[in-house]
Amino acid sequence: MTTRKQIILAAYVGGVNEHTAWEHPDAGSQIDFSTFRHVAQTAERGRFDYFFLAEGLALRARDGRIFDHDIAGRPDTLPVLAAIAAVTEHLGLVGTLNATFNEPYELARQIASLDHLSGGRAGWNVVTSFDAYTGANFRRGGFLPHAERYVRAEETVATVRELWDSWAADAIAADKDSGVFLRDGRAGEFSHHGSQFDIEGRFTVPRSPQGRPVIVQAGVSPQGRDFAASTADVIFSPYSKLAEGKAFSADIAERAVKFGRDPEHVKILPSAGFVLGDTREEAEEKARHILEQQLSDRTIQVTFEQVWNRDLSGYDLDGPVPDIDPDPEAPTFIQGRAFIFQDRFQTVRTWRELAEQRGLTLRGLAHEVARGPGYVGTPEQVADQLDTFVQEGGADGVVLGSHVVPSGLDEFVDRVVPLLQERGSLRTEYSGSTLRDNLGLPLPDAATHLASTH
Ligand SMILES: Cc1cc2nc3c(=O)[nH]c(=O)nc-3n(C[C@H](O)[C@H](O)[C@H](O)COP(=O)(O)O)c2cc1C
Repeated sequence: MTTRKQIILAAYVGGVNEHTAWEHPDAGSQIDFSTFRHVAQTAERGRFDYFFLAEGLALRARDGRIFDHDIAGRPDTLPVLAAIAAVTEHLGLVGTLNATFNEPYELARQIASLDHLSGGRAGWNVVTSFDAYTGANFRRGGFLPHAERYVRAEETVATVRELWDSWAADAIAADKDSGVFLRDGRAGEFSHHGSQFDIEGRFTVPRSPQGRPVIVQAGVSPQGRDFAASTADVIFSPYSKLAEGKAFSADIAERAVKFGRDPEHVKILPSAGFVLGDTREEAEEKARHILEQQLSDRTIQVTFEQVWNRDLSGYDLDGPVPDIDPDPEAPTFIQGRAFIFQDRFQTVRTWRELAEQRGLTLRGLAHEVARGPGYVGTPEQVADQLDTFVQEGGADGVVLGSHVVPSGLDEFVDRVVPLLQERGSLRTEYSGSTLRDNLGLPLPDAATHLASTH
């Protein structure tokens, strides 16, 4: 019997963004269904837990000029996942859907429907969106400050769960002899009165195979962490290095206990990339090349402008790091991009010191601080890096993206997955029939509704 922790794997298709080498000769469409199907079927061949899609509800732009390497053109998540449900059997299907702009009733219907269509493989990544610019695309306009977005997200998820619980598992009799279809005359009845939603009526979708589809959360502020620790089954985190991953896991575990939850029931998966070579040198060379492609002049400029919150177009990328401070007062400089550096001033100070110590230009600094292509090495080395990260408590697994879509994941599945399986760190067959089962998450109590309200 192995005592190794089982690595949770998710496959991610990000569309056109700064991590995708869409110009690569082997790259296919970022939009056609064939791309999504290829990645999903490859992930299932590799016994991945789920296929994952993020969501962008605005094109990212500055002064009306679209930043076209940043998620320009991405189909809606749910139809893609529904179509993938039909061409896969075991793979979980996790979609990102915004809690700021959607109503709980429609979210509950959509996700429960995906759970039915897929035989219990649906998951919902709850996001609150990065900024107010997205709101301009919706009728409410620039909508909800950061803190209120989490208040709404918490109540959205709680309400969605009430709706999912409003049908008992045995509410449908479908008895052809007696002609009785519904056994429970109160099926779908709900009543929710809170600060965000004041709704009551009937929910239309019967209880789905997982009862409660898997809840994923992405967001790292103290509020976001509390929301995740109290509510989520899985967290999509940005912490893919061992030390930061361990610190995040410890923090989430502490918060989960505070909310009366077993920390084992909150799985954490950072995003990660990989580059393989026959030798370490070859992989490093490939990784260098990928990073050069990703760090175009415009990407470097946009990245730094987010932090400085200023127009840096007058600064030479091959010159020194700008000698000015960030502007905290100006409106957010890049519309629609995540601001991941919490303290602009501290970030700029640290970068300046780094650049001085190493004699870096602005471009050199960009290469130094870029997240980079992730796990790099031979298949054995990559298997070892990933396995060590998980076994030593960095996280429970990773959300894996490849630079070349759709074929990039094949290499990982063909060359790294068998090594992880040999080590006993990755399943060779799916053990359960639902996403919840495969993730090792407890089943929700199917009788909650009848017991509590009838
Ligand atoms: C790893 C990660 C992935 C995210 N993915 C999305 C996404 O696909 N779509 C979206 O609108 N917001 C996304 N977000 C934004 C979060 O939902 C959240 O609104 C944002 O991080 C601000 O909250 P925070 O301060 O708690 O991090 C993501 C955040 C993180 C950390």
